[in-house]
Amino acid sequence: MPAESAFTILFDGRPIPAEDGRSVAETLLENGVHTFRRTRNGEPRGPFCNMGICFECRMVIDGHPNSRSCMTPVRPGMRVETQHDSNIEAPDEDR
Ligand code: FES
Repeated sequence: MPAESAFTILFDGRPIPAEDGRSVAETLLENGVHTFRRTRNGEPRGPFCNMGICFECRMVIDGHPNSRSCMTPVRPGMRVETQHDSNIEAPDEDR
């Protein structure tokens, strides 16, 4: 990882190393994170398709719920949070 492209993002309040050109999902998976959100029943979910189709990777990114982490590039200082669907209005297919 070239030093000039390395930075950190915050995942649930803790710093995670990140690299320019990677997605949020890629970065979290590389750092051992597998639960990206919890369904209304509390079941863990994480990326499945990694190409923007399944919506399983939704997270709260910089305060925006239902953000597809596989389609969102990391940026320095980004705040990423596990999404708890019981607290958020989820798309119809997940109800
Ligand atoms: S992993 Fe399928 S939309 Fe992100």
